[in-house]
Amino acid sequence: MSKLCENIAYTHLAERFGTPLYVYSEQALTNAYQNYVNAFAGCQPLICYAVKANSNLSIIQHFAQLGCGFDTVSGGEIARVLAAGGTADKIIFSGVGKSIQEIAFALNAGIKCFNVESLPELDRINQVAEMMGQIAPISLRINPDVDAKTHPYISTGLKANKFGIAMADAERAYQYAAALPNLQIIGIDCHIGSQLLDLSPLVEACERMLALADKLAVQGIALQHIDLGGGVGIAYQNEQAPDLTAYAAAVAQMLAGRNLRLVLEPGRSLVGNAGTLLTRVEFVKQGEEKNFVIVDAAMNDLLRPALYQAYHHIENAEENGQPEMVADIVGPICETGDFFAQNREIAAAAGDLLLVRSAGAYGASMASNYNTRCRAAEVLVSGDTVREIRQRETFDDLIRHELACLG
Ligand code: LLP
Repeated sequence: MSKLCENIAYTHLAERFGTPLYVYSEQALTNAYQNYVNAFAGCQPLICYAVKANSNLSIIQHFAQLGCGFDTVSGGEIARVLAAGGTADKIIFSGVGKSIQEIAFALNAGIKCFNVESLPELDRINQVAEMMGQIAPISLRINPDVDAKTHPYISTGLKANKFGIAMADAERAYQYAAALPNLQIIGIDCHIGSQLLDLSPLVEACERMLALADKLAVQGIALQHIDLGGGVGIAYQNEQAPDLTAYAAAVAQMLAGRNLRLVLEPGRSLVGNAGTLLTRVEFVKQGEEKNFVIVDAAMNDLLRPALYQAYHHIENAEENGQPEMVADIVGPICETGDFFAQNREIAAAAGDLLLVRSAGAYGASMASNYNTRCRAAEVLVSGDTVREIRQRETFDDLIRHELACLG
């Protein structure tokens, strides 16, 4: 018996759509969003899904239909949200290096807020807004200098990180912004890191930001919203995911009596555990020192194990007495780093279907064509129905842009 995504067997999906295949559960997406809405009901936050976690149009569309806003980091992501039916007035634009073209595009679309990360960026947005005869709504991303206690590559709130404006420079930066005629200050934001399992750094960041907001109010700079970013972790293995209700209660208590709307930018916690990567075992190879389960997905499909030594739970879609062994589960790419798991206990034989769990966030969105591999198809399951939401790429797709340039 195959394991199921909602009411559909993974083996059926693999036969129908081929492998590697990303499979998402619509119910799991809805539940994850609803968990935020319920936990934070007292604050009525604007939840802005961080599109980078999974930028598939149909997933964006699903969140838009639930009333969600969006945190974006490029003109491309803004274009995706608009194409999927999201409204500009719920789009936040983050990122350290916004280009002139991206700023103009965002202003033209009428986004809710630019999350600004430096003084030169303030100048640039002011100039573009002036050229376009507009006033740009802005927030300053403050680096609260708290240790998120996560993997160094996804920790963003320390002094040594490239992100945000240092707390020590924050008041001056706000004064600077206030003096620029084509900007309107509306908020304050931070994002201290990703896959946080401990709530205390998030709560501490909120405290520091509110203390700053109070100082700004005294100086006549009144803010409309506080944006606490994303970062809430999920369970990949045996970890305990943070309790959203406890996070919400702590934030609600701090916001009480203040006239500040709460904005959140969750990515991973909305999509991570809604997605599974399906991959077929090509060969089982007994090496001299190790066993290798060679599968048809690779680091180009899911980069997280190679890039962050990330753990993803892997299981056989059907447990039917295959021998248990300890093996490295690896892809066909010509890199030693192309693995999904090392020294993992797994029951797998050639032809079996494996499920790589918790692959909904930073999986498909970080995929590449390395080794001239076609990107996987993606499907969305809802009850007993399934919809292809990204077609598998073809070789023609991969060479088209070069073919047109061949001499
Ligand atoms: N807001 C901003 C400004 C961000 O930079 C990020 C993620 C988020 C929100 C969403 O954070 P989340 O809720 O997903 O933790 N590729 C890495 C994760 C990189 C996260 C980058 N920023 C991974 O696969 O673990």
